[in-house]
Amino acid sequence: MMRRDSVRFDGDTWDLASSVGATATMVAAARALASTEPDPIIDDPFAAPLVRAVGVEFFTRLVDGDIAVSQAAEQAGRNLRLETDSMAVRTRFFDDFFVAAAEAGLRQSVILAAGLDSRSYRLAWPAGSVVYEIDQPRVIDFKTRALADLGATPTAERRPVGIDLRDDWPTALRQHGFDPAQPTAWSAEGLLMYLPPHAQDRLFDDITALSAPGSRLATEYHPESGPTMAQRAQMFNRRWADLGCDIDLSGLFYDGPRSNVVDYLTDRGWQVSTRLRRDLFADYGRTFPDDEEMAAFRNVVAVTAIRTAADSPPMHRQPTRDEEGGAPNSDGPNR
Ligand SMILES: C[S@@+](CC[C@H](N)C(=O)[O-])C[C@H]1O[C@@H](n2cnc3c(N)ncnc32)[C@H](O)[C@@H]1O
Repeated sequence: MMRRDSVRFDGDTWDLASSVGATATMVAAARALASTEPDPIIDDPFAAPLVRAVGVEFFTRLVDGDIAVSQAAEQAGRNLRLETDSMAVRTRFFDDFFVAAAEAGLRQSVILAAGLDSRSYRLAWPAGSVVYEIDQPRVIDFKTRALADLGATPTAERRPVGIDLRDDWPTALRQHGFDPAQPTAWSAEGLLMYLPPHAQDRLFDDITALSAPGSRLATEYHPESGPTMAQRAQMFNRRWADLGCDIDLSGLFYDGPRSNVVDYLTDRGWQVSTRLRRDLFADYGRTFPDDEEMAAFRNVVAVTAIRTAADSPPMHRQPTRDEEGGAPNSDGPNR
């Protein structure tokens, strides 16, 4: 699946069973489990069949209930609970973002790094909605085919765009009919750490250039304080290793200093709101584990932003508590 010595390089590619692509299968597996909980906060009926279609043995066994976590070590059970809760909360946050954008009248959405996300098939998009999904060609093509084989029908006009987000995706998006004059709802979910820092900046520059006033954006990022990406990857690997999975993210994340997402967007005319993951957990009735190691993950920042005007000057804002080591400048989740 992901070899211990896997490394990233410009122009690397993958399918859903290898390298960065396998992380899309991993999070879909967690979504599948989260959807079958007694008190689910998400319902993704496509997650499990998509994971099975990919065919990575561990993840298939996981969604089929063949990983006997109840009999496994207590720690493994806690790890799995955290993975499913995290994915449930994250999925719900982005679902709610798109629902709120649609309620506000936006009819054009772009899901960046869509992976096995099935929002184009399961959200109640208003009539006239167009949803673009961007990911690497093999990822997008596989999902399109697998969902067609399952008999699934998109609930919006879905336009898949197979291209690497380090390439000229804005041109590809326009070629598929994207209209930059219309306000757009953008999501970048589970993506930023897989982009080199300069590609993250370019991504937000490109999004900004394509965003008419009134456009909205949702993303999340790991704050600069705390462990490095490499350390986070190792903690993550350990959690999955407890479950018997040899996933290895350490070669997949790009380390090194990054622009602060909130500052970067604010300086480009976006009005930004943030919410720490631990607070999102509470919003959605989940509890984030209180132990020391988890502190790094509690403080992941969920971001929503609205593009105020194409030529608006940078807005002044108070530093977030996250940046100062505390709670965020929060307007609560977009429901
Ligand atoms: C952790 S998965 C998240 C998938 C989806 N957003 C979700 O939450 O289910 C990361 C996704 O980012 C995509 N990705 C990462 N880097 C990319 C790039 N440079 N170009 C296109 N897609 C990329 C991967 O193919 C994968 O589908």
